[in-house]
Amino acid sequence: MCGIVGYVGEKRAAPLLLDGLRRLEYRGYDSAGLAMITPTEGGGYELNVIRRVGFVAELVKAVPENLAGRAGVGHTRWATHGAVTEANAHPHVDSTGRIAVIHNGIIENFASLRAHLEEEEGVKFRSETDSEVLAHLVRKFYTGDPLEAVRSALAVVTGTWGVAVVFADHADLIIASRNGSPLVVGKGDGETFLASDPHALANYTRSIVYLEDREIVKITREGWEISRLDGRPVSHAIEELGIELGSSEKGSFPHFMLKEIHEQPESLSRCLLGRVVPETGGAKLGGFDLTPREIVAIRRLGILGCGTSFHAGLVGATAMEQLARLPAFAEIASEFRYRNPVISADDLFLAVSQSGETADTLGAIQEAQTKGGRVMGVVNVVGSTIARTCGRGVYVHSGPEIAVASTKAFTSQVAALLVASLMFGRSRMLGPGEGRAFGADLLAVPGRMASWLDANATSHTGPIVDAVELLVNARFVFFLGRGVSAAVAMEGALKLKEVAYIPCMSYPAAEMKHGPIALIDKQTPVVAIVPDDQMRDKTLSNVQEVRARGARVILIHTEGDTEAAQLAEVAIAVPRASALITPLLSVLPLQLFAYRAGLALGRDIDRPRNLAKSVTVE
Ligand code: AGP
Repeated sequence: MCGIVGYVGEKRAAPLLLDGLRRLEYRGYDSAGLAMITPTEGGGYELNVIRRVGFVAELVKAVPENLAGRAGVGHTRWATHGAVTEANAHPHVDSTGRIAVIHNGIIENFASLRAHLEEEEGVKFRSETDSEVLAHLVRKFYTGDPLEAVRSALAVVTGTWGVAVVFADHADLIIASRNGSPLVVGKGDGETFLASDPHALANYTRSIVYLEDREIVKITREGWEISRLDGRPVSHAIEELGIELGSSEKGSFPHFMLKEIHEQPESLSRCLLGRVVPETGGAKLGGFDLTPREIVAIRRLGILGCGTSFHAGLVGATAMEQLARLPAFAEIASEFRYRNPVISADDLFLAVSQSGETADTLGAIQEAQTKGGRVMGVVNVVGSTIARTCGRGVYVHSGPEIAVASTKAFTSQVAALLVASLMFGRSRMLGPGEGRAFGADLLAVPGRMASWLDANATSHTGPIVDAVELLVNARFVFFLGRGVSAAVAMEGALKLKEVAYIPCMSYPAAEMKHGPIALIDKQTPVVAIVPDDQMRDKTLSNVQEVRARGARVILIHTEGDTEAAQLAEVAIAVPRASALITPLLSVLPLQLFAYRAGLALGRDIDRPRNLAKSVTVE
């Protein structure tokens, strides 16, 4: 979603800001802009604001190559209030043109503030955004002290913000504040950086501080001073930004999504490394910091997440019940947080998130914590808000996932939850032999994935190509599965919607006959996920039901299951694995369907329309 970068230092700021914005592109946005504090011929300073609709590349073209100025802020906007236009792009300036503001989040009381500023202060608004009120409010309270002006402006605002403000009167200064939308400051040599995502800073500094909610920071080239919005001083120890595991460059791949699909054997190995313990048949997740006695005392497990992370949670909940006999459920975080859930002290919640910044998931965590529940994170981005809010948890170690459509994070999340289920299982119901067999099967997956991808991912003929041909010509596609494969079906449908914009629906296979089967006609492709598990025969009966109505069946089955394959127009075999582990393999063809269908339809694969990588608004 929206991204923020800022720089104050000795160097020309514009190239650094543009580079930072490029590194935030993966988050999803629709316009970009920057505000530079540039020297005037008269020896003073002025603000130079440049904004463009579209990609950062458009902004790069518009910024003069030798644009002066050693301080400035840059922004990528993902539209919430107001259409995608240059006028609505950030930065927004006050009516004197000497104060510029960039803002992530939502100002909830913007309508009343706007009315007040228009009626009482005679302000003429130039955009439809909620954010513009901030520029005018800062102006209203500005009497020469930038920090106090921003502090006073934020005192009358309700909502969420990561906000950064520059003043033409103060050439070496940025004021920034956070409330519900992340910000990080980074220290260089005679220079200081600001960003909404540490990924933007990785090329420049590793010494960083994460701002907490309701903090405000005065940033100069010498460093920063942080205080609470209520005026109390704050001191944070500088943290070391972890080295990113895996690369955030595309390399020889045409798209990040394809690269990330191919990275899965490696990212999965990283996730499993040292965590499965063959000697005991168990597993070790140090980040959970739970003794066997504490594991036994847990009465219920809730897994919270959104989108792909929720789908991983569905697999995790099934695994927890089956391996640990622990009552478990997965729930969409945005629903959980507002249903006034009943929580008891012996409940444990796992919050699953790739970005670690998803506002809905964060809200659900806070709700669980408010009610006395324990929440631990299953997160990819190290140091992210969710990881820090949970305090305890595990990282899934996928490495940077840049494509908006999640692929390698899904398989690592599933793997981390399977490892957790094994760990909990050994303390509860699972014997060493069963644990050892499950662990061995899990450790074999990266190798099986690699062989499958080698054989299928780049091939120009074969069942993946045939399936994609059926999908791209479809008006509507059905995904079916049962048990953990129902979660895989949901993930496959989500991918095809996001990347190829093909209308589709996923359903637990048996439930389909209770209504949605009415949608099936002679042209409808049905993707059925039918591994050779205890549900196989039942799901094949459901496949027969759609075949009887003329559906064109694409069937994902276990290698060697020729009987299942015969029911399909296109059959795709994936390696054998124990039932709970099958999602790690059966999702691979579905990821490729989305990628290849998106490619065939000319979609923007890595940055699908309307989507953001990190969804930081509710
Ligand atoms: C996945 O392809 C999506 N882009 C989306 O559903 C995503 O999984 C969801 O927004 C949750 O994000 P998170 O894992 O960063 O919390």
